[in-house]
Amino acid sequence: MDAATPKPLRGRHLFANPGPTNIPDPVLRAIDRPTIDFHDPDFLPVYREVFAGLKRVIGTRHHLFMYTGSGHAAWEATLTNLLSPGETILVLDSGYFSEEWGKMAAAHGVEVQTVAADWRHGIEIAKVRAALEADRSHRIKAVCVVHNETATGLMIPPAEVRAEIDAAKHPALFLVDTISSLASLEFRMDDWGIDAVVGGSQKGLMNPTGMSFTAVSEKGMEAHRSAKLGRYYFDWSVMLTRKPHDSFVGTVPVNAFYGLQAALKMLEEEGMDAVVARHHRLAEGVRRAVAIWSGNNGPQLFCTNPARVSDSVTTILMPEGHSGDALRRTIRGRFNVSTGGGLGTLSGKVFRLGVMGDLNEAMVLGILGAVEMSLGIDGVPHGKGGVAAAMAYFAG
Ligand SMILES: Cc1ncc(COP(=O)(O)O)c(C=O)c1O
Repeated sequence: MDAATPKPLRGRHLFANPGPTNIPDPVLRAIDRPTIDFHDPDFLPVYREVFAGLKRVIGTRHHLFMYTGSGHAAWEATLTNLLSPGETILVLDSGYFSEEWGKMAAAHGVEVQTVAADWRHGIEIAKVRAALEADRSHRIKAVCVVHNETATGLMIPPAEVRAEIDAAKHPALFLVDTISSLASLEFRMDDWGIDAVVGGSQKGLMNPTGMSFTAVSEKGMEAHRSAKLGRYYFDWSVMLTRKPHDSFVGTVPVNAFYGLQAALKMLEEEGMDAVVARHHRLAEGVRRAVAIWSGNNGPQLFCTNPARVSDSVTTILMPEGHSGDALRRTIRGRFNVSTGGGLGTLSGKVFRLGVMGDLNEAMVLGILGAVEMSLGIDGVPHGKGGVAAAMAYFAG
């Protein structure tokens, strides 16, 4: 940038990352409070309210364990509490995060079988049934799915996977990562027959990074009792001895609970159906813009299967010879807008726009405007009028 180029020093830093996401003012205000003893009688109602509210968002009446740690902590806690060394899991390939969860399991001595998929189209769910039917001796102890693959912008419908497990009459546990779907996409743990749900605080729940959790069915708790992978800080049985909290082997992060309490109140005020509808509307606005940009050999949707596009993150494939990271630098440097980069093998090839959490149409238009201006500044070929298409959709 030369001296004549305006530096965006004033105004809000617009956040279009697919997590962490914008932290709304009521959450910031709630966290910014003097801390109190986690055994203080004033804290216990807050603790219980957060557990109850989070269970409503997850759609479960069963168990919930929370951890001080990001989503990886919940991944690790879930695997180690449910599995024993040498057991096998079936991972549905969806992108970087399904790969990473599998790598973590392998590091713990778990055998990982993968159902491969075309990342742009999404997995053929019938292959899950075939893999389970082939497993006559029931070596596979758990089927692991990332509901919303944050790297590729793909959604896998958990209810359809459940139907395949049932059709194969296989006893495997069903584990679902909802880190970038919870409080953004429709989710119903108990109705969909899910045994363990992994989630985190920093996306749809509009809080800082650092809290994560697992909700567990009765079948999951039964499996936990004989699971032998090493654990202590994350051990659900140890947590259950820590009365009156039932979770947290160490100090309970009181201020993180204030933030979650505020966010859960906001979600309940809006109503979960409205939250889901808003995410769909915002993501569809982004997709309308990308459809226009893709003209003239411009950037296009990474996900080519309309039935599987994510409503919380859109992954956008750059034209050959153009770097997503260079574009992101222009978007950030010129317009103070933060976007997500490509992960793993997609690094540099894509960029990602998140609409998770505390966003509305006007904010999304600001983000799309910054992207469209930056495409022009960087000389990336594209069809003109993406923002106008999103405006027409939002106004319609
Ligand atoms: C789907 C999914 N799973 C797992 C993770 C890992 O969570 P964390 O980065 O909070 O450890 C992420 C992070 O973005 C994610 O999007």
